Amino acid sequence: MNIESLLYLPLDIENPPTDYLDHLNNLNIEKLYDDKYRHCYHVPIMYDFKPGNFAWTPYALPYPSLREWAEDVLFPLFGRSRIMIITTPAGATNPPHIDCSREKFETSLQHKFRYVLQGNIDDLYFMSNRGDVQTPAGPDKPFIMSGKWPHYMTNTSNDTKFTLALGAPWDGDVNDASYVELLSRSYNKHKNDYLQADFELPENYGDLFEDNYDFRQRAKKFLKH
Ligand SMILES: [Fe+2]
Repeated sequence: MNIESLLYLPLDIENPPTDYLDHLNNLNIEKLYDDKYRHCYHVPIMYDFKPGNFAWTPYALPYPSLREWAEDVLFPLFGRSRIMIITTPAGATNPPHIDCSREKFETSLQHKFRYVLQGNIDDLYFMSNRGDVQTPAGPDKPFIMSGKWPHYMTNTSNDTKFTLALGAPWDGDVNDASYVELLSRSYNKHKNDYLQADFELPENYGDLFEDNYDFRQRAKKFLKH
């Protein structure tokens, strides 16, 4: 395993509960935060209105089991960071994109924590100069993916896809010994489903950055109304 070129690795940790899926399925997604860049919606679960001061949003209130799991399993490993549930309607596509700014592309791992609460794990594709690389269909575990490697996703299921996401400012740290230990333990268990960038970026990857990457501004605006 090479942490710098890791694309996808299932994690050897306890899965989040999913007993609140009925509630998620009944949300009116038209009222959720509409991510125009990624063509999906976000249910904001934890956010820092003051930088570094993370708190549950009102959207997290109906999900006590998720909050408990985050306190018991997620935060001891990763610390607090923004959490959202990425919501992609059946049949919708998140077109090719890169989940970081041009500046951070060169300077950080840009690891993302994800767990598919409902939907297909293998609807996610990474792009390369040798064609697209599909994510393995399992196991049913949380995973780390590289957010800076260009990727896209089409929800091929008949249901809305819900993906629990721990996002910025957490982005993985190669100098964090406990994180490196988690990755190597997970690799030992899930090496058959590990993906690594053994290829080059697609030629057009420079076109895939979001212009004016201002997620924070847009999320703030959304949460205030
Ligand atoms: Fe993404």
